[in-house]
Amino acid sequence: MKLSKSILAAGVGIAALASASLAHAEPTAEVLHWWTSGGEAKAVAALKKDFEEHGGKWQDSPVAGGAGDAAMTVLRSRVLSGDAPSAVQLKGPAIQEWAEQGALANLNDVAKKEKWDEVIPQRIQEIMKYKGDYVAVPVNIHRVNWIWSNPELLAKVGATEGPKTWAEFNTLADKLKAAGITPLAHGGQPWQDATIFETVVLGMGGPEFFQKALIDLDEDALKSDTMKNVFDEMRKIRGYVDPDFPGRDWNLATAMVMNGKAAMQIMGDWAKGEFLAAGKVPGKDFLCSATPADNGNGFLFNTDSFAMFKVDGEDKIEGQKLLAELIVGKKFQKTFNLLKGSIPARTGVSLDDFDDCAKKSAADMAADEKTGGFLPSMAHGMALPGHLSGAIVDVVTAHFNSDMTSDEAMNRLVEAIELAKD
Ligand code: GAL
Repeated sequence: MKLSKSILAAGVGIAALASASLAHAEPTAEVLHWWTSGGEAKAVAALKKDFEEHGGKWQDSPVAGGAGDAAMTVLRSRVLSGDAPSAVQLKGPAIQEWAEQGALANLNDVAKKEKWDEVIPQRIQEIMKYKGDYVAVPVNIHRVNWIWSNPELLAKVGATEGPKTWAEFNTLADKLKAAGITPLAHGGQPWQDATIFETVVLGMGGPEFFQKALIDLDEDALKSDTMKNVFDEMRKIRGYVDPDFPGRDWNLATAMVMNGKAAMQIMGDWAKGEFLAAGKVPGKDFLCSATPADNGNGFLFNTDSFAMFKVDGEDKIEGQKLLAELIVGKKFQKTFNLLKGSIPARTGVSLDDFDDCAKKSAADMAADEKTGGFLPSMAHGMALPGHLSGAIVDVVTAHFNSDMTSDEAMNRLVEAIELAKD
């Protein structure tokens, strides 16, 4: 806005002008996200609808690609060319990294008005704040360590539920294979390999080991008998997937379980969003169970969130405030999470209308929070900055797609992490 000298001379206060233009600004938001699968698209459509019903103008900027790798590449180039989108799906330590660059807008006004400090759990607040200021808003809590299975296929080998230990998993998978059924639906993309890997780390090592290996990056844990067992198990799992797995999108793997082409998928509960979008009923058409836990339970969490980038223009700034307010609101958290497969990221939303998988998620989360088993997902960018998780994911994928021994994988893991730290 350019103010002429005469207006200033006429004594019109700048504040009055600003609020007049605010009143007329149409809240606008360009939203960069990667929610393009069936279930994801339904969920993001609910956000768009809510925003539009509140007078907002939504500019959709979807970038396809599970787990957002492609979206983050687009984000970097947009910011570098001085054209940041106003609202961006961003999570975990990446929020801190962008905030450090001075790229994110401060949301404290909305936070105060909406009492976010009272309704957002402390652990999640810490992720959303930079140096005490809100710079992002949480959408949900996804659990990563789930197995989704097809009850009809399990029944063919006499199973009625998901396996509880990795030994049970292997026995079940062997039986399925012998019966001519693909045990595991998988998409060979690095983040999907890493998703399986981290559930094996948690399941075989237990929460404490997960913390040491994938969060503290403790060398003794990274090179240990337990980690060797983890890579041995990854090699076994490689034998349980069908030959067409390379490059397959995660939602197509979910469809294999849905359509009876494979018995199980290890994936976060966004997979449930896919089943639901296809009209499938949990407990009947598909089953959810926590991934095998040999050494104590655990919950790998993955909280999606939106950060608001610094942009010019009252319409955009108003759009950011409106979007942030709606996202944390109770109504949105319920509608969205019912579609997305996750559970709300704030207190005060009843789970009565949610299914049994969501209720299990909430109950397990509460139990695991008490025992130190509530842990951030490495594969989904919650545990480590991108350069460190990237180093781990590269090794995991290289091992999964070759004949690399478990010993070599462990050596490479330590080396890659050391290099990335420098
Ligand atoms: C995750 C994201 C989920 C889901 C998934 C697949 O990283 O947190 O919301 O969309 O990727 O795209």
